[in-house]
Amino acid sequence: IERTFSMIKPDATKRNLTGAITKKLEDAGLRVVASKRVWMSRRQAEGFYAVHKERPFFDELCEFMSSGPTVVQVLEGENAILKNREVMGATNPADAAEGTIRKEFATSIGENSVHGSDAPETAAEEIRYWFSDTEVVG
Ligand code: GTP
Ligand code: MG
Repeated sequence: IERTFSMIKPDATKRNLTGAITKKLEDAGLRVVASKRVWMSRRQAEGFYAVHKERPFFDELCEFMSSGPTVVQVLEGENAILKNREVMGATNPADAAEGTIRKEFATSIGENSVHGSDAPETAAEEIRYWFSDTEVVG
């Protein structure tokens, strides 16, 4: 059994899509084992996305992610990392497959409704960034 880190981004919380997105994750066989709503600071966003700091969209990304509430979650399941990436769909909603969260809900490549870890090491690191051990209850 594997764990991954997921975020419901400000564009989605603003449109009241927390439940609809969580339902899609659960329907895909993922279990929410930790969840909280956070309005991250600009500094928290910069720390979380440090790996992207040389990318041209870094400022825009950190501005967006600190522009409103997000829901941070830990998801558990068989192949949770890959499964979550599949149900999220491609980064750019224009390229996302039918039935995916980004196809259904995302509005642009930046405001793409969800985040999901891309590998076991980043999943562990991202879970640690937002949650203490006692907040994750399997
Ligand atoms: P994450 O699950 O959020 O990591 O998405 P990803 O792995 O599909 O995309 P990537 O790691 O390449 O980029 C991280 C995030 O940066 C994306 O989810 C977008 O929100 C944002 N992003 C990526 N490319 C662009 C871009 O060209 N413009 C803007 N504004 N944002 C971008
Ligand atoms: Mg990524």
